[in-house]
Amino acid sequence: MTLKSPTIPTFDFMQNNKINWGIIGAGRIAQTFADDLKLSPNAVLRAIASRNSEKAQSFAQKNDIAQFYDSYQALAKDPDIDVIYIATPHPLHYENTLLCIENGKHVLCEKPMGMNASQVKRMTDEAKAHELFLMEAMWTRFIPATEKLIAVLDSGVIGNPLFLHADFGFKSTPDPNGRLFNKKLGGGSLLDIGIYPIFLSLLLWGKPNTIRALARMTETGVDSYCSMVFDHNNAAKSMLESTFEANTPVEAIIYGEKGTLKLHRRWHHATMLSVLKTDGQNEEIHLPYKGSGYIFEIEEVNRCLQNGIKESNKMPHRMSLDLIETIDRVKAEIGLAYDEHD
Ligand SMILES: NC(=O)c1ccc[n+]([C@@H]2O[C@H](COP(=O)([O-])OP(=O)(O)OC[C@H]3O[C@@H](n4cnc5c(N)ncnc54)[C@H](OP(=O)(O)O)[C@@H]3O)[C@@H](O)[C@H]2O)c1
Repeated sequence: MTLKSPTIPTFDFMQNNKINWGIIGAGRIAQTFADDLKLSPNAVLRAIASRNSEKAQSFAQKNDIAQFYDSYQALAKDPDIDVIYIATPHPLHYENTLLCIENGKHVLCEKPMGMNASQVKRMTDEAKAHELFLMEAMWTRFIPATEKLIAVLDSGVIGNPLFLHADFGFKSTPDPNGRLFNKKLGGGSLLDIGIYPIFLSLLLWGKPNTIRALARMTETGVDSYCSMVFDHNNAAKSMLESTFEANTPVEAIIYGEKGTLKLHRRWHHATMLSVLKTDGQNEEIHLPYKGSGYIFEIEEVNRCLQNGIKESNKMPHRMSLDLIETIDRVKAEIGLAYDEHD
């Protein structure tokens, strides 16, 4: 897809002193996101776009949204919209994001941002060239538990980090046509949920220098189980797992020389951390959140847009590139390729 030269948005940015949001794709996560958006005093959900007019109308009615569209393009062209949340299956993120950017819209794009590193590079390059905000919707980065985790590690209370164990697994009945198993819809546990433990590993120690990975493939040619070991400069190690085959603990534990730090189940939106020190002093920290936990990433986007910031310093383009480059390396290790994208 070729984009036109950078466009200067012609709309009145932040009408009513609120950030005006639109959503592309009226699926499951779109509904959860819409519910959390209602919690923000700084924003309003003004439009929904679905491929199906009735679906768009019913989503709009249910969520008290002023405008609905039966095409993604029509939403991208709506002059009243400031920022668009992309809530479609992974392989569509690239073209949906470029459509929004071409039409002068800021974008919050679901994870993974693209199907491979070259897509994410193009998306971030185009956002920069058009002077528009773009962020991957890695909501875990913004929940209070993650902020606390960073603070606890910085305090040195568990000492030098040794290794990380993090898993994300749930049992899902294989449906060859469903988003989780259909290869054309970007199926597989690695891209859908393996991205979370990989994100945590990168947040702690950056890109690994060595990666080992094993997977089990489904008849549809995607991974239903993926296990990864990362080595970070011959120092810290990460042992990560994702699966649709079983309900796993969904915990993240960082082991250090003086103790361990645990993000309790389901760690990617944890409300509890514990510090277990080798001297026997333990601490439990409770960090409840509002709504379903998406409000924190929403407020980060609002904050950036209100201040003319084009890239979040907490979830910068570099992190999205590092994430997808690491995923590409894991894909190569387990022999996973998405025909139209790799
Ligand atoms: N951050 C999180 O916690 C979280 C949780 C779940 C999912 N996600 C991410 O959000 C994205 C969507 O996941 P979801 O669970 O919401 O999926 P979903 O329920 O299947 O919804 C996806 C929507 O995308 C649209 N779409 C466009 N082209 C499509 C196609 N060819 N096939 C199917 N749908 C198509 C459809 O909306 P219309 O018919 O209305 O156009 C559909 O309802 C994924 O990339 C996933 O990784 C994130």
